[in-house]
Amino acid sequence: MTHQRPLWPSPKGRPRFSLFIKNPATMMRTARALANVLPAGISIGLSGELGAGKTTFVKGFAAACKVPRDAVTSPTFTIINEYKGTVPIFHADLYRISSDEELVRTGIYDLDIQSGFLLIEWPEKFKSLANYLDLFLFFSIKKDGRLLSLTGNQELMNRIKTVNFEER
Ligand SMILES: Nc1ncnc2c1ncn2[C@@H]1O[C@H](COP(=O)(O)OP(=O)(O)OP(=O)(O)O)[C@@H](O)[C@H]1O
Ligand SMILES: [Mg+2]
Repeated sequence: MTHQRPLWPSPKGRPRFSLFIKNPATMMRTARALANVLPAGISIGLSGELGAGKTTFVKGFAAACKVPRDAVTSPTFTIINEYKGTVPIFHADLYRISSDEELVRTGIYDLDIQSGFLLIEWPEKFKSLANYLDLFLFFSIKKDGRLLSLTGNQELMNRIKTVNFEER
């Protein structure tokens, strides 16, 4: 998908909403519920400080595609992991990538995500990714849980609105 405007750093005017997530199990259930309403072929940015819950989110997301939880590991060193579920899930972690050239060399732009999903931790390090993401998730650490804010194009936000998050 393509965008008229990047999703960050200033998602002004974009539909946006937030969810409070009280524990890791709820983070996984939230991710699973989202995965069930999102169309294949999209890229999702996961932004937030160390330990904010990005990889935990990917575990839940992948579970919706029948990837076992233990198969999902942090790609801090591998940079891009692929999980073969009902659809392919690509999981990138750009924490250790330091330049646009290096980013291109990871092959992230060459992945065939049409039938699956690409989830990217630390996307905000690269302006060049701003127009490449369809959905942007911000994770922040709160005293007794995590706050998850979502923003994306109207079509995706409409789908997300159909999720009953109370049932997580
Ligand atoms: N509400 C919550 N949601 C998610 N994780 C939580 C929550 N409360 C506590 N945690 C803990 O926070 C940690 C989140 O780790 P995780 O690897 O998912 O973070 P991350 O954002 O991927 O970090 P990194 O930037 O290092 O990759 C886990 O140890 C998890 O148990
Ligand atoms: Mg992580």
